[in-house]
Amino acid sequence: MSNIPTIAPERLPELLRAIPKAELHMHIEGSLEPELIFALAQRNGVSMPYASVEALRQAYAFTNLQSFLDIYYAGASVLLKEQDFYDMAWAYLERAKADNVVHTEMFFDPQTHTARGVPVKTVIEGLHRACVDAQAKLGVSASLILCFLRHLSEEEAFATLEEALPFRDRFIGVGLDSSELGHPPEKFARVFARCRELGLHLVAHAGEEGPPAYVWSALDVLKVERIDHGVQAAKDPALMKRLAQERIPLTVCPLSNLKLCVFPDLAQHNIKALLDAGLVATINSDDPAYFGGYMNENWLQTFAATGLTAHHAWQLAANSFEASFIDAAAKKAYRERLDAAFDAFA
Ligand code: HPA
Ligand code: ZN
Repeated sequence: MSNIPTIAPERLPELLRAIPKAELHMHIEGSLEPELIFALAQRNGVSMPYASVEALRQAYAFTNLQSFLDIYYAGASVLLKEQDFYDMAWAYLERAKADNVVHTEMFFDPQTHTARGVPVKTVIEGLHRACVDAQAKLGVSASLILCFLRHLSEEEAFATLEEALPFRDRFIGVGLDSSELGHPPEKFARVFARCRELGLHLVAHAGEEGPPAYVWSALDVLKVERIDHGVQAAKDPALMKRLAQERIPLTVCPLSNLKLCVFPDLAQHNIKALLDAGLVATINSDDPAYFGGYMNENWLQTFAATGLTAHHAWQLAANSFEASFIDAAAKKAYRERLDAAFDAFA
């Protein structure tokens, strides 16, 4: 959109809530609210090492990625049945709808569940049924991206892929998450090459806590189409230039970065620098139940802290559609909805 209407600063929050957007970096297990964790624990007879919802929430004081992951995997231990996966995804999709998220590509971590004896089929079928209902009942388009846990071996990733392949039509791509430091992308070179042959979309977490070198190898070795996080790329001017030139999207998660101490405060987040350098940066919630907010909360707090403008808002939403794995016609239709939302504010 060439002429973004001038919008009074006091109307910016209203605009941010109203604009249609895509969410491309959200771990469905990270949308599990403490209340649902306790309800599922009771339903499934799973004991939790926390006495109450409040005690669990109080444990959400993270110092880095690993301190979060330890609690995140404990929370996911209450998920056993297909209906549990459905209920978790449905709760997220209703919140996404409320935030005007019109398209979402949700990560899931099968190995977190298969390690507890839950079949991949149970995980995928429950999540997929919620995606189908989201389109039919909420008008939200939703798809799934299977993530390999990078603290496990590449052999285990291959075994997970094999187990998931009977459900190949239920997920659009693969990603790489969990503990970044010490587990560079190249550890998964062969399994990503296989996924590429299978026609799956490829993404990877890189440059969250890890160095720019991990972003380079995610691109050059894994051949990913998007980088999840990627904020450490700002330390490497040659990498910044490449990301901008090749229009490789970064799925940035500001509240996650704040809660995991990647930036000391939101005002020092580099999202504005990334956008102003011409990168296809987007804003996403990562693990909204753990990091203090869903999509709009990430947008609102980031805009308030960093001084992003209505122009940036348009760019971020346009980037989210450009970066998504939907076809060109769907991208065009969403862009038109985005422009119409801005026109309504003029
Ligand atoms: N980083 C790595 N792994 C994750 C994250 C994250 O932010 N959230 C859930 N798994
Ligand atoms: Zn993530």
